[in-house]
Amino acid sequence: MLKRKDLISLDVLSKKEIDEILSLSRKLKKDKKNNYKLKGKTLGLIFEKPSNRTRVSFWAGMVQLEGQCIYLSPAEIQLGKRESVKDAAKVLSRYLDVIAARTFSHETLVEFAQHSSIPVINALTDQFHPCQALADIFTIYEKKKKFKGVKLVYVGDGNNVLHSLLYAASKVGLDIAYATPKGYEPDKKVLKTASGFAKKMGSMIKGYTNPKEAIKNADFIYTDVWASMHQEKELTKRKKIFKDYQINSVLLKAAKKNTLIMHCLPAKRGLEITDEVMDAKQSIVFDQAENRLHVEKAILYLLIKANKK
Ligand code: CP
Ligand code: NVA
Repeated sequence: MLKRKDLISLDVLSKKEIDEILSLSRKLKKDKKNNYKLKGKTLGLIFEKPSNRTRVSFWAGMVQLEGQCIYLSPAEIQLGKRESVKDAAKVLSRYLDVIAARTFSHETLVEFAQHSSIPVINALTDQFHPCQALADIFTIYEKKKKFKGVKLVYVGDGNNVLHSLLYAASKVGLDIAYATPKGYEPDKKVLKTASGFAKKMGSMIKGYTNPKEAIKNADFIYTDVWASMHQEKELTKRKKIFKDYQINSVLLKAAKKNTLIMHCLPAKRGLEITDEVMDAKQSIVFDQAENRLHVEKAILYLLIKANKK
């Protein structure tokens, strides 16, 4: 069983815990009889910024497990404004059984979890997106039936999604490379920690600035927006910096023919990825999106069972 209160970042999870999440996700995806139930349990959904996939997949997932959800929109929750993060965490812990929270700052989420007596799940912060990365490695395994010797290449901004992918890939022994412009590399500390995990697993982590070089021999090519939800004001500047990092049919000439294309979505079509690539046969972006549901159901089930009151 998963042995922790929260799911904040993947670096602290053991390989065994990750395997357990992936294995239950597989069962839940196949489970037509609904043998897994969270009857009478309530999930709080706290969002400081917009969400489509994360909010709806958690919500639908909880309903499928026969539990319930309460959504707290940015206007309602106002963490640290209407009341302190600490007080909100203490109060909500008395009503709910589990919370998934999307905050601007990672520190806010950590503080919230520290003061909450129920499990808290990271639904994206400026630094990490662990549920996304778990669904991504689940999708990769689904396609290749293995991690060893499989190569994932991320092209674009060294952001929250890449950080969680670095942890997820290195924990399970999936090779990962990334191509980012100078000054937009992933966080040094995250990279160092992930490199340690990869060394232990005998897998590879490699950084590039040239996307053409990076995507050679990639089994999966992954991209994300050039300006994340807390960086919208930088978009004009970033459009210039990232223009050679667009996933388009010209760039893909440098990759294997059967490379599969991934994107966490929402995508800015025409910026980091073109329509023709998003809609191509080799694009698995909607499988990825669907798998958020199965993986989050597994996370909810395992965390609630591990923290029975
Ligand atoms: N991929 C993802 O987390 O999407 P949302 O921002 O729509 O939740
Ligand atoms: N990097 C993006 C991911 C969205 C799912 C963001 O933080 O906005």
